[in-house]
This record gives sequence, C-alpha cells and structure tokens, in this order.
Amino acid sequence: MTAAVVVGVGASLPQRVVTNAELAGYLDTSDEWIRSRTGIGARRWVDPGVSTGDLATRAGELALRSAGVGRVDAVVVATTTPDRLCPATAPEVATRLGLTGISAHDVNAVCTGFLYGLSSAVGLIAAGNAESVLMIGAETFSTIIDPKDRGTAVIFADGAGALVLRAGAPDEPGAVGPLVLGSDGGLADLIQIPAGGSRQRSSGAAAEPEDYYFRMRGREVYRHAVERMASSAMQALGRAGLTMSDIDKFVPHQANARISAAVGERLGLQERQTVSNVECVGNTAAASIGILLAEATAAGGIRAGQRLLLTAFGGGLTWGATTLVWPEVTAHIAAPPRAAIAAAS
Ligand code: UT7
Repeated sequence: MTAAVVVGVGASLPQRVVTNAELAGYLDTSDEWIRSRTGIGARRWVDPGVSTGDLATRAGELALRSAGVGRVDAVVVATTTPDRLCPATAPEVATRLGLTGISAHDVNAVCTGFLYGLSSAVGLIAAGNAESVLMIGAETFSTIIDPKDRGTAVIFADGAGALVLRAGAPDEPGAVGPLVLGSDGGLADLIQIPAGGSRQRSSGAAAEPEDYYFRMRGREVYRHAVERMASSAMQALGRAGLTMSDIDKFVPHQANARISAAVGERLGLQERQTVSNVECVGNTAAASIGILLAEATAAGGIRAGQRLLLTAFGGGLTWGATTLVWPEVTAHIAAPPRAAIAAAS
C-alpha cells in the first residue's frame, strides 16, 4: 500500500495584528471575555486587497522550499473563503507557483478543511494519480465575518498552512495514518453563509446584505465539536492500531482553547501534550492545523519522531482525525514576529 508522506511544511500569516482591545473599541465585548471564553489574545487579518489565494500561494511556496522541491503533481486548496465563487482557487495558486498544467482543485469542509484536503491528497497518491501533492489550507475569514457580530468577529481569522506530501511507505516517518472523516448535513444551519448560493438565488427571495455574512450558532456548535473531535480521534487511533499512550502530541483544530482542553481531557491526555497557537492566531478554519504544525515545528513544540494526533470539526457539520509520526522537517513561515504581536496585545 502506498502511503502519503509529509516532507515539507509552510505557513503564511497576514502582517496586520488585530488585538482584543481593538475589537472592544467598536463591539460590545472585552479582552477579559474573549480570553476567558476562547483563549484568543490577538488574531491576524489581511489588509485590503490581500486574498486567500495570495496567502495560499505564499504558504505553498514556503512548503515547497521546506520540502526542497520545485514541482509537485497536484495542488489541493482547502478553503471556505475562495478568491471567487467560481472557479476554484487552486488552479490560479498552482499557476502562480509556476505549476500550470497540473491537477488543481479546492475542497470545502469549513474548519475540517485541512483534514478533508489531506484526505484528498492521500487519495491522489494512494491511487497512483500523483507522486507528490501540495496541500494548502487557506482562509481570509475577515472577508466574510459580520463586523457587528461579536459572536464570530472575535474568533475567526486569516492565514494559510501547507504541507508537501510524496508517495512512500506506511512505516516511514511522515506517513499519514488512516483518516476518519464524518459529516451531518442535518445540522448545516449551525454554521452557514445564508445567501449567495443556489438555494437562495433559485428561491427568488431577495437577500439582505447581512445574509452574505458567515453565521454560527456557537453554543450548539461547541457541544457537537467536543463530542465529534473526541470520538473521531478515538476511531483514528483504533484504525491505526494505536492507543492513547502511543500519542506524544495532540494537534487539534484551533477553534477555541476551551474546546481543545475539553477534548484533550476526554481523551485522557495531559495538558502539556496539547499544542496550541490560538492565543496569537485565532481560529483560521481550514488553515488552522497547517499553521499550527508549522509554528509548533519552528518553536520546538513538536519534534521529529513524535506521534501526533490531529482532529478537527467544522461546518457541514464535518469532523475528522488522523495520526502520524512527525518527520524531520524545517518549517518555513512568513508572519509578523511574535515580539510585535506581544507588544500589540
Ligand atoms: O471552528 C469550528 C467551528 N466553531 C467552533 O467550534 C466554535 C464553537 N463555539 C464556541 O467556541 C463558543 O460557543 C463561543 C466562543 C462562540 C461562545 O462562547 P460560549 O461560552 O458558548 O458563549 P455563549 O454563546 O453561550 O454566550 C454567553 C454570553 C451570551 O450572553 P447572555 O445570553 O448569557 O447574556 C452572549 O450574548 O456571552 C455573550 N457573548 C459575548 N459577550 C462578550 C457572546 N459573544 C460575546 C463577546 N463578548 N464577543
């Protein structure tokens, strides 16, 4: 069986740091509420004119550099915030990377996008349709959040994280383990953009400008997120023939520090095993696991040889999990220096 093996990791974050204090300047919220309910101290939003494709291209370029390769056979972009509704963002990203002609497509699984995108990359390699894939999770949520909605504006953020994968053996470091993915479309209304799609357009009903914004029923989502992240993580372990004692580091989608802690606790993991960057990055949806892998690798929070457990949850509803032994890689990151963020917040 051919495995997909991680050989490069990169990330790109916008220069603009948005502090809780800045949001509290125009929303009915506070640094204390945001920190205590979400663990977020600051997030990065793009400047006007910067798109998801721009962040994706930069992260992709850095992941290719990390892998030491100039070419791949396919590009997958996982995003909720494509550059345009049509066509997909991936072909343009591929061309900007000098890869015109290769397979390129988008995946939309909202905050589970990184794992669904990974599954697509694994599938391309396992089927023999690609020897190598660049998989990028990229978002500009600042372009779809309602600036007046304190329930989402304080949480969501922008960024891109990318992996390069190549065909290899299942027992190699970096080989992606069995992926457990799931969905429940009966709960699609919990996380949605009500207008702009065929359902609203075909109904002939006029949409209000607010209907084009991203909406989330946070409290209900929270409960499902904890349950689904924990159960899919357990299933992924089982499918890999592992137990929780085999796991060195827990790498959850960065939805909310409380969700990560609750899932970690359910799984019986120690607090120190959970890797996090939500405090400085916020919730970057499909990009979050990729950015976290890159930042934690660069900071020494995850090291070569450690076995990681990845899990995510998002709109759809969708969820998923997988495991892998982290390979020897150098992460390449384009981001404002941490010192600047600390000074700003
Ligand atoms: O990324 C994948 C999908 N997303 C998630 O997994 C996110 C899941 N949900 C969450 O992370 C949390 O539900 C939130 C962070 C969104 C909200 O935290 P919560 O502890 O569930 O708060 P809540 O929605 O139950 O609201 C508690 C109170 C409410 O006031 P009342 O009704 O108790 O008077 C809200 O109106 O907090 C209020 N509130 C705020 N107050 C200050 C909601 N947002 C804010 C805010 N600042 N930004």
